[in-house]
Amino acid sequence: MTRIFSGIKPTGHLTLGNYLGAVRRWAEVDQYRADALFSVVDLHALTVEHDPARVRRLSRQAVTLLLAAGLDPGRCTLFVQSHVDEHARLSYLLECTATDGELRRMIQYKEKSAAARAAGQSVRVSLLTYPALMAADILAYETDEVPVGDDQTQHVELTRDLAVRFNQRYGHTFTVPRATPPKVGARVMDLQDPTGKMGKSHENGAGIVYLLDEPDVVRRKVMRAVTDSGREVAYDRENRPGVANLLDVLAACGGGEPAELAGAYTSYGALKRDVAEAVVEVLRPLRERHASLVAEPGYVDAVLREGAERARAVARPVVDRAYRAVGLLPPG
Ligand code: TYM
Repeated sequence: MTRIFSGIKPTGHLTLGNYLGAVRRWAEVDQYRADALFSVVDLHALTVEHDPARVRRLSRQAVTLLLAAGLDPGRCTLFVQSHVDEHARLSYLLECTATDGELRRMIQYKEKSAAARAAGQSVRVSLLTYPALMAADILAYETDEVPVGDDQTQHVELTRDLAVRFNQRYGHTFTVPRATPPKVGARVMDLQDPTGKMGKSHENGAGIVYLLDEPDVVRRKVMRAVTDSGREVAYDRENRPGVANLLDVLAACGGGEPAELAGAYTSYGALKRDVAEAVVEVLRPLRERHASLVAEPGYVDAVLREGAERARAVARPVVDRAYRAVGLLPPG
């Protein structure tokens, strides 16, 4: 059976980008067709300056939102990364497999380290080694497919390279995974800056739709989305990124092809109104289920306990095998 692994990091409130690019498919498709594991990857939230209480709160909120989005613990394994030691154990071996040049080439490292330096902050070593931990997340589960948005495909490519290199050096140990981005919604852009992705750790939330935003907040954000000075609604990602993004979101939420949907509109205002309603409708059940799950903290705890147990049982033998393969003496 196909094995799927994917993760989400609790660095901010989950966004429409996270949902359309990843989470929705996990819930609607992946958990039904494969042996799927999904993780709130909290160790990854420590690579930049962080507030411990906030990470704790966001981790719990992310788990609750994943359940609200439809992840069913009877069909998939849902857990928090730091509850399973194997991730950190394997990460070190992959740091010993990757080169510093390879890690420095990662776009996210370049962007985030530049931003930290510009803000006068130091750069944590873990920001550089982050892709080794992400590779460990994936390889520890003999993963075949990694459903992620476009921004993560470079990390999955690196994971493949590391798996192949490790296997060549030390004998076959890891399954070589591949990224599976969605057809629509793979890159939802910021509504205020449609040349940049909608990211949960941005300072300014005006261009970001959060999954828990009230309907009126969603409407306001969409109605204020930056477009351009043109009038005709056409799908042109290059020259009209704002309108193209709205059409992408409409297609992802309501179905259809972005280029064809464009033909149905004669004004930006009408397009924005439809996008806003489509998003509000997609988020409505999620917000409702989230509210009822918040009232059941014991249930969420039980899901996480069982999820970590199941995840550990899969990862442990794989990571033990990798330890032996590189020459570490097994405990007696
Ligand atoms: P993260 O937490 O930034 O995002 C979680 C998922 O959401 C997708 N995504 C988007 N998709 C479309 N449009 C957007 N604007 C958008 N923003 C985010 C991401 O592509 C991702 O699929 N490094 C990962 C977390 C991770 C992971 C893993 C993922 C750690 N280990 C192992 C897969 C497998 C990250 O920062 O995702």
